[in-house]
Amino acid sequence: MKKPFLRTFGQKEPQSYPVDEIRYRGDNGDTLEVVNDFGVMDEKKVRRLKNVFDKRAGSWETIDRSGVWRYREFLPAFAPFDTVASMPEGNTPVFSMPRCADYTGLSGLFAKHQGMNPTGSFKDNGMTTAVTMAKKLGSKVVACASTGNTSASMSAYAARAGMKSIVFIPNGQIAYGKLSQSLDYGALTIQIDGDFDRAMDIVQEVCDSGAVYLLNSINPFRIEGQKTIMIEMLHQLGWNAPDWVVVPGGNLGNSSSFGKAFSELKKCGFIDKVPRIAVIQAQGANPLYNSFIAKNRILTPVHADTRATAIKIGNPVSFDKALFAIDFTGGVVEQVNEDEIAIAKSVVGSDGIGSEPASATTVAGCKKLVDSGVIKPSEMVVCILTGNLLKDPDYTVEFHRDELYLDAKRTLSVTGTRRINTGGRSNRPVQLPADTKIIIDYINEKCFGHGDTRI
Ligand code: F0G
Repeated sequence: MKKPFLRTFGQKEPQSYPVDEIRYRGDNGDTLEVVNDFGVMDEKKVRRLKNVFDKRAGSWETIDRSGVWRYREFLPAFAPFDTVASMPEGNTPVFSMPRCADYTGLSGLFAKHQGMNPTGSFKDNGMTTAVTMAKKLGSKVVACASTGNTSASMSAYAARAGMKSIVFIPNGQIAYGKLSQSLDYGALTIQIDGDFDRAMDIVQEVCDSGAVYLLNSINPFRIEGQKTIMIEMLHQLGWNAPDWVVVPGGNLGNSSSFGKAFSELKKCGFIDKVPRIAVIQAQGANPLYNSFIAKNRILTPVHADTRATAIKIGNPVSFDKALFAIDFTGGVVEQVNEDEIAIAKSVVGSDGIGSEPASATTVAGCKKLVDSGVIKPSEMVVCILTGNLLKDPDYTVEFHRDELYLDAKRTLSVTGTRRINTGGRSNRPVQLPADTKIIIDYINEKCFGHGDTRI
């Protein structure tokens, strides 16, 4: 069995790097993936491993209880697993969704609810592995740009691992449930005057020097962890692959990780049939959809606009990897408009489950794909609900009051006469211009001590 290594992802001449080299792109600018060699997996070994996974599911050891580390044979880059940062995550349920099935025109519909993770979104599956790698690499400060869930998850795992965290968020454009998490977990929270795509550019510059470790899904170790969402789903389904897995698409890390999971599972003989992946984008943030329809495989960034703020992303980092996931699985891309997302979200709620708006794109997309005959009513479909209902309560309350606006303006003046003492423990977000130099000076002052390597 060869040691795992990093390789550039793309058609150009592949470049390889060791897993313990801090880098997020190859010298040619392509994104990186972890290349795993699982050795010979014959039928006997597959049967034995499936039994091991069953046994671990009943264990109380954190590393076995985690729905990520339970499948650690698929995560050789992190061996020997002695520095694992785990909550533990995963173990998210697969629900039957009868009202969603009726709504979409399917005879049955299942939802794997990643919102049941420790910080309420699927990001925890990838964050446990990426923070574990950050520990292995000796990082003291980690950072991400985020529409809210990555920042919530990163700051939680960083706090657990004793690291500082810095989050870059688009000013006024993330849901309060998510903002409250990164503040409470102690992240230096920088609101920039710009959108997610601009925040993503800045964080990559900030992390260039290596003093701060980047934990967006451009980090290939995030994708490794997110792979296990599909491994766990198949385990829960008795290793019987559904016909379709439907997933929202934003920065496209999740879709990419699902493609990698299926390709590795198929190669190892864990599954014969590969589920088809349907990626659903909001119509106002649809670069992958545009490329799929034009059949041109070209990423043309868009100016993103949607109330599903989690996927308000116009220039996705993992575009090429998502194309692979669609090609490999015979997948499709669909888009849904704001009305379709809002109504589908209320249908998810009517099944007693609930989700945040971005997750409901899956049910909305499913309905469109059944209506257009791409998904057959008798096919088995699993929608991935990516985030918890409570992440964005404003959206839900506004919907049910008939006050849901695409261009909603929030006024945030709070008044009162009896202020409660916060004991000097408040962690106020800072507002900075979208200027990398000013931001770096600020971080150097706040995050590094005397003698530390600065940015
Ligand atoms: N659903 C939710 C709830 C999300 O938070 C995100 C992404 C997505 C879907 C899209 O997943 O980026 O892998 O295609 N949220 C990121 C964040 C970008 O910063 O929290 P993707």
